[in-house]
Amino acid sequence: MFVLDRAAPNLGEQLAGKLREAIGDGRLGAGTRLPASRDLAAELGVSRGVVVGVYEQLRAEGRLASWAGSGTYVAAGASPGPPVPPREPAPVAPLRPGIPDLNLFPRRAWRRAYETALAGAAATDLDYGDPAGAPALRAELAGYLTRVRAARIEPAGLLVTTGAAQAFALLAAALRSRGVTRVGVEDPGSAAIREHLSAAGLRPVPVPIDDCGLDVAALQRTRLAAVLTTPAHQFPTGVVLAPHRRGALVAWARRTGGLVVEDDYDAEFRYDRDPVGCLQGLAPDVVALVGSVSKALAPGLRLGWLAGPPGLTPELAVAKMVADNGGPVLEQLALAALLASGGYDRHLRAARRVYRYRRDVAVRALARYLPAAVVTGVAAGMHLMVTLPPGVDDAALAGRAAAHGIGALALSRTRLRSAGPPGLAIGYASVPPDRLRSAIQELARLL
Ligand SMILES: Cc1ncc(COP(=O)(O)O)c(C=O)c1O
Repeated sequence: MFVLDRAAPNLGEQLAGKLREAIGDGRLGAGTRLPASRDLAAELGVSRGVVVGVYEQLRAEGRLASWAGSGTYVAAGASPGPPVPPREPAPVAPLRPGIPDLNLFPRRAWRRAYETALAGAAATDLDYGDPAGAPALRAELAGYLTRVRAARIEPAGLLVTTGAAQAFALLAAALRSRGVTRVGVEDPGSAAIREHLSAAGLRPVPVPIDDCGLDVAALQRTRLAAVLTTPAHQFPTGVVLAPHRRGALVAWARRTGGLVVEDDYDAEFRYDRDPVGCLQGLAPDVVALVGSVSKALAPGLRLGWLAGPPGLTPELAVAKMVADNGGPVLEQLALAALLASGGYDRHLRAARRVYRYRRDVAVRALARYLPAAVVTGVAAGMHLMVTLPPGVDDAALAGRAAAHGIGALALSRTRLRSAGPPGLAIGYASVPPDRLRSAIQELARLL
């Protein structure tokens, strides 16, 4: 997939140039099937005629070939030089929730940002730095989170982490140093996060979810001192924490001295309206904001952030220093440069368009092939959840799907104590529309 610069003229020429380049350097090897013109046009946000024209032009140049009814392919011999060894198939199983399209990673913008970082770094920047993170990145992130997520954050209050995973570990260490041993988690919720918390010495205690998000009345009955929640787009149900619940949650924290950990994991992706601002912006005194670039860019970068309430900042800073003395500095400076250049925002805009289209494709394919599945939650993020008819064993279905290379997640695997219908969390962001449709069709067959 390609990202076009929409501010520049002539999108068709840009697309043709990118295709020639990818064919020329072997990223698109001979025989690779290109997306249908309708799908590529929708993903890029251009008219179908633009894509059809580009395909025709490249066919005339001998770079592409097509056979009636079977699509458009990179022509044999279109890549100059020695044959390019076949690339490893993408390791991402279709329908695996929560994973972005790694082929969309903005390699050029990242290379430019990395070069800027390397050229601009003083020798002393390569020393052990502030364990809290490179000051340049903390300043950029504070600006970004204030602007995009309506957070209330100063650079001094931010820790750069190796992903949300480390942020949870640091919070657990800080809470344990205050004698806290249990933490509320959403039920259903992320099993991976429960494991992180358990490994860090906190026992996850289930707090139920309903159509309005975290059940704060149930939380009040638990006598917990901390709770972890995903207010912007609950994982896995996809519901948004309702305004009255936000107020109630903040009131609970202020009344009891409790801590709310806000996992803002995929909040930049909302397709039906502008994203709701983060909870931390309403109550920075009691909310710790956790985020990462794992959904917006790629999980492999291992870059994230944590803004704890001021009262917890000293413990968090110590925990971070003990953990690793600070993360890799050049990557941090590169992310700072990407944010400063506007490249991060540009990438998000392009990715949002692609994922919105893929979500629509997934919803239509579910209606067609799996009409018994009911989609829940708002149009946001990188996955949707479906509930299935009573009696379906969702874990067995997900197991069969995995055996066929499909990565949907069983809703029952995300539950601790809650009861409810079987279901699946279905990721739609990571693969192109035709792969998405065929995986959903296959899922229906397995059901
Ligand atoms: C609910 C949730 N929060 C956060 C994350 C991000 O974790 P990390 O930043 O460690 O990659 C994920 C990743 O899958 C997730 O599912």
